[in-house]
Amino acid sequence: MNTRVLTGITTSGTPHLGNYAGAIRPSIQASVQPGVDAFYFMADYHALIKCDDPQRIARSRLEIAATWIAAGLDPEKVTFYRQSDIPEIPELCWMLTCVTAKGLMNRAHAYKASVDQNVARQAEPDDGITMGLFSYPVLMAADILMFNANKVPVGRDQIQHLEMTRDIAQRFNHLYGNGADFFVLPEVQIDDEVATLPGLDGRKMSKSYDNTIPLFEGGAKGLRSAVMRIVTDSRQPGEAKDAEGSHLYTLYRAFATPAESAVFRQELEGGMGWGDAKQRLFERIEQDLAPMREVYAELMSRPDRIEDILQAGAAKARRLSQPLMAALREAVGLRASAAPARAASASTKKAAGKRARFVSFRDEGGLFRFRLLAGDGQELFLSESFDNPKAAGAAIKGLQGAPLDSLIAREGGQAVMSLDGAVVGRFDAARLDQVRQALADMAQD
Ligand code: TRP
Repeated sequence: MNTRVLTGITTSGTPHLGNYAGAIRPSIQASVQPGVDAFYFMADYHALIKCDDPQRIARSRLEIAATWIAAGLDPEKVTFYRQSDIPEIPELCWMLTCVTAKGLMNRAHAYKASVDQNVARQAEPDDGITMGLFSYPVLMAADILMFNANKVPVGRDQIQHLEMTRDIAQRFNHLYGNGADFFVLPEVQIDDEVATLPGLDGRKMSKSYDNTIPLFEGGAKGLRSAVMRIVTDSRQPGEAKDAEGSHLYTLYRAFATPAESAVFRQELEGGMGWGDAKQRLFERIEQDLAPMREVYAELMSRPDRIEDILQAGAAKARRLSQPLMAALREAVGLRASAAPARAASASTKKAAGKRARFVSFRDEGGLFRFRLLAGDGQELFLSESFDNPKAAGAAIKGLQGAPLDSLIAREGGQAVMSLDGAVVGRFDAARLDQVRQALADMAQD
């Protein structure tokens, strides 16, 4: 089975060179590896937590989508979507919210940091803190669990969120899984090979430090002028430079081949002036970015194109999220059936909550199965796996609709239940009477 890799980018700003080299480029590389199913999305609900400027949100969603595509993402191969186009995500978020301990959220670094800042300036601890910020990790858990991601590549600051996601998933599995798990426990993926770029001042390139180098904004000119502003030491042309300690070299290496980097390094150590080095760095980055910038500009001038791509991505994503959500609704008691609550008859009153029932779930491989449980909760029968919940649902219906004996063949001590020639499941033939009874009870309901 393929590994599902999932990650999101919060759409509250314009992508910079650090976002490209640290997140977008490695994610695109990962998406074409054999055995990988990639899910990449624009976390625009998350953006609302930190930004209340509608124009900025709208623009950022567009820019980030265009950047992914310009950088080479293949929307045919990757499931590429916008969080807010998947209504199952906020719905799952609520279900998870209802099983998440408040104490767990109290421990979230981002929330605690805001509280600490408030306390430090002698304000109310929760001053200015919204429920969005407080519950941020639950929404992130919903993003991840909705698609049963195995690996989540993120920055170190997100490790705690992945731990919380696993906690929440386990709790939900335990409460509703009936021994089978709805959710895969995701693993965080921190890639030490991936470049963390220094910004203009040498600290990590980040919008919050205001030290970023633009990716496409401002064109080649904007890129060049930013590169010229990178801090260096005061060594003069002709003096040997400390390549290892130089931000220019770190940036250069993030774009160049090892052989190109070795030459650049030698030249720095041989006394190349900082001005020349910056020009060389600019040219090397520009070599990669120029072709992408063209695609980017083209896309940005045709937002309808981007929209089409995203709508197709949302449809693809929802082919997974809708059936899972249906199974989850069922599991928590929000049944899809419109059957009104029956008036309690003598027999149902006695057996309230104790009738035989089918319980659907998703197995470890992400496939759909069900169990037949007796009134006392004992498992009578476990189904084979089905590719989709519809097929599993059809089998449940089929079992209820036909006379049982016509579906069953004996194989030694085993009873093999089949529908239309396909085996639905096997069980111990000694249970045959119980199974018959359970199905008959259900038929009466
Ligand atoms: N919180 C992430 C960040 O700020 C963005 C994000 C939202 C995310 N949902 C996610 C990342 C799910 C990975 C998986 O970087």
